[in-house]
Amino acid sequence: MRVALLHGPNLNMLGRRPSQHYGTLTLAELEGRVRAWGAERGMQVACFQTNHEGAFLEHVHGLAGAVDGAVVNPGAWTHYQWSIRDALEVMGAPFVEVHLSDVEAREPHRRISVVRDLAVAAIWGKGPDGYRDALDVLRERVGA
Ligand code: DQA
Repeated sequence: MRVALLHGPNLNMLGRRPSQHYGTLTLAELEGRVRAWGAERGMQVACFQTNHEGAFLEHVHGLAGAVDGAVVNPGAWTHYQWSIRDALEVMGAPFVEVHLSDVEAREPHRRISVVRDLAVAAIWGKGPDGYRDALDVLRERVGA
């Protein structure tokens, strides 16, 4: 099973962002964990992060027909960036929306997600473990 792990803006700064929300892992460490959890589940995880909307869109377009599922943390784009939603729709593969922090318990704008209705599930506030749960959701949904 081929899974894309997609991160949006500022997530390359993990390890330097407020630890009460995002913990202390760097993005490379988080990606390493997700790859290992994927391997345990017979999944090949391909990681991508960018701070540039157009680069994200074009990467997601290229995933159409090339992946069986995706785990997506769109960062701040989650809350307002409709073009990201449209690209995920084009991708066509089932995806799980993940947030490290408890977006429901923070500022009101973080409770809005423009991708949620497309996602097969949304997981927030569980730190890195939320990504492991997302892989399990995809495995159930798509089959290993
Ligand atoms: C985030 C939550 C977003 O509100 C924020 O803009 C991020 C990270 C999270 O993982 O908790 O950059 O998606």
